[in-house]
Amino acid sequence: MRTLFISALIALCTATVSAQKQSVDVPNIIPEPVSLSVGSGRFVLPDNVLIAAPSKNEETAFTVDFLKEKLSVATGKHVRADAKASNACIALSLNKKYDAKIGDEGYALSVTPTKITLTANKPAGLFYGVQTLLQLFPPEIESKEKAENAAWEIPVVEIVDYPRVGWRGLMFDTARHFFTVNEVKQYIDTMVRYKYNMFHWHLSDDEGWRIEITSLPKLTEIGAWRVEKIGTFNYFSNPLPDEPKTYGGFYTHDDVREIVRYAKERFVNVMPEIDVPAHSLAAIASYPELSCTPGAEKYNVRAGEPIMDWNFSPPRAFVDNTLCPANEKVYEFMDKVMTEIAQLFPFEYIHVGGDEAPHNFWEQSPQVQALMKRERLTTYPQVQSYFEKRLEKIIRAKGKKMMGWDEILEGGITPTTALMSWRGEKHGIEASNSGHYVVMSPSNFVYIDLMQGDASTEPPVYNSLRLSRTYQFNPLPEGANAKYILGGQANLWTEQIYNLRQAQYMTWPRAFAVAESVWSPLEKKDWKRFIEKTENHFKRFDFAEIKYSPAMYDPIVSVSKTDDKYYVTLTPEIEGLDIYTSFDNSSPDRFYPKYTEPQLIPKDAVQMRIITYKGKQPAGRLMTIKVDDLKKRAK
Ligand code: ACM
Repeated sequence: MRTLFISALIALCTATVSAQKQSVDVPNIIPEPVSLSVGSGRFVLPDNVLIAAPSKNEETAFTVDFLKEKLSVATGKHVRADAKASNACIALSLNKKYDAKIGDEGYALSVTPTKITLTANKPAGLFYGVQTLLQLFPPEIESKEKAENAAWEIPVVEIVDYPRVGWRGLMFDTARHFFTVNEVKQYIDTMVRYKYNMFHWHLSDDEGWRIEITSLPKLTEIGAWRVEKIGTFNYFSNPLPDEPKTYGGFYTHDDVREIVRYAKERFVNVMPEIDVPAHSLAAIASYPELSCTPGAEKYNVRAGEPIMDWNFSPPRAFVDNTLCPANEKVYEFMDKVMTEIAQLFPFEYIHVGGDEAPHNFWEQSPQVQALMKRERLTTYPQVQSYFEKRLEKIIRAKGKKMMGWDEILEGGITPTTALMSWRGEKHGIEASNSGHYVVMSPSNFVYIDLMQGDASTEPPVYNSLRLSRTYQFNPLPEGANAKYILGGQANLWTEQIYNLRQAQYMTWPRAFAVAESVWSPLEKKDWKRFIEKTENHFKRFDFAEIKYSPAMYDPIVSVSKTDDKYYVTLTPEIEGLDIYTSFDNSSPDRFYPKYTEPQLIPKDAVQMRIITYKGKQPAGRLMTIKVDDLKKRAK
């Protein structure tokens, strides 16, 4: 870091230094490496690039091809790999002697003016080293065609790097909206640039069953399809009986095998999630006999209409979306599902959901009442626990381990069940201290379905999570037993996400922040520096044609009320922004008065407009907020 500061200083002192050169000199690596020192001089990519790489190694072959492709497309240079080349300018090799410091995923990258040397103990380390190497090049390296006028050179550096935690995940909900195999691959492609190694694949919910189970064909004949609605999910009208159910889709076994193979090549594990006993309306619409209320109503795969009253905890359901824990058919069903899931997914864990199970239909069920009497269960979390314990037996019989959302802790869990902590950190801390393996995924830091900017500019979601807050995520929080914390993960629920572009927008840059939280040493995290790097990665994403959110350039808006007067406070999330506002319906620019203090809302104003600038350039989006909305926010 010290060397980095020194090189930044030199850049500042050299008045003639070009922006281009500066961006090349200060490595913008996300996640920040464990150790990085910048030397003097630069490596210039020759016109003919020769890569030396381990021969006949299936696991490294993809990494070499990946590097070859990335280097040749954008630069237009001739790149080839030859295992025996002694004069190669880029050399990738596996250590003959295991270097315990860098472990299975770490690497060492050395750049001199004449040679790039990348070493690792295992193929995964070489892959991550290649991601770092690519980030040393200017943003044009991400161009999908030959980029003209880029300087294909990188600074002389020495990097030694390895992850803070082993589980570095993103969850993608393909149940609320279906995403094609190609889109799932694109999502994985972007993850791996930031050294994520876990793709948690949410495959079933009230709004769709997305995986073929050949022994239960109705799951995908019926459960994968619903009435199409566009607008604000959760507030749609009830689907009419004659509306066509043509919206949705599912993954065949071949699709799943293809995704698992694709992910593995990129050193990503795929963990499937089948969310039970609640969030199961798509399964119940397919097989109504699995509910505690068969025949009581006509079940439909949910199309976004309200089905829960969230004023209660757990929520009360208007429509029974739970599998019946007292019904033997449910365990036969789960056995069939888990047989196929276990065969399709090599990863050791199967996630079984377990979140947000309403109790109100169980309360009315004579079957559940009889079960409670027979098993001496006195609470509904215990009823759920009875279900989870039987489910775990099924899963273990298939040679797999079970993981669930933290609600499954409530009625008591077996010692071998693992937990994903989402309702804050406390359940994960508690579980780790009682010897359960835990993945930290607290909604108040890493729920990337939440709004990242002001409600006036984002699709409405029940809460907000700014980038600065996500950056504070610590997968190893105080009080946890680190030995049992597998790692951390961000979750992308897709109720309000209708397409891949929006999925990208919601994921990035918050997943940069999560990547740095799960990979980099805590003491290497630096918010100011992270934002500089994020801006560089925005340029990379522009070349790569990946969408991201610029919400960090929009200020945080809060309103206070004093003596019947309303004042608007605007707080920039990042440094270096000037804010301009108007209440006269016109669009402010940098020639309007600069915001310096809370603004009184004029008595007859109808809307406030806000924009930020960085120097002479607009940075944020033009925000327009109705005065009525502002007044509702007053604290
Ligand atoms: C969850 O967000 N309901 C796990």
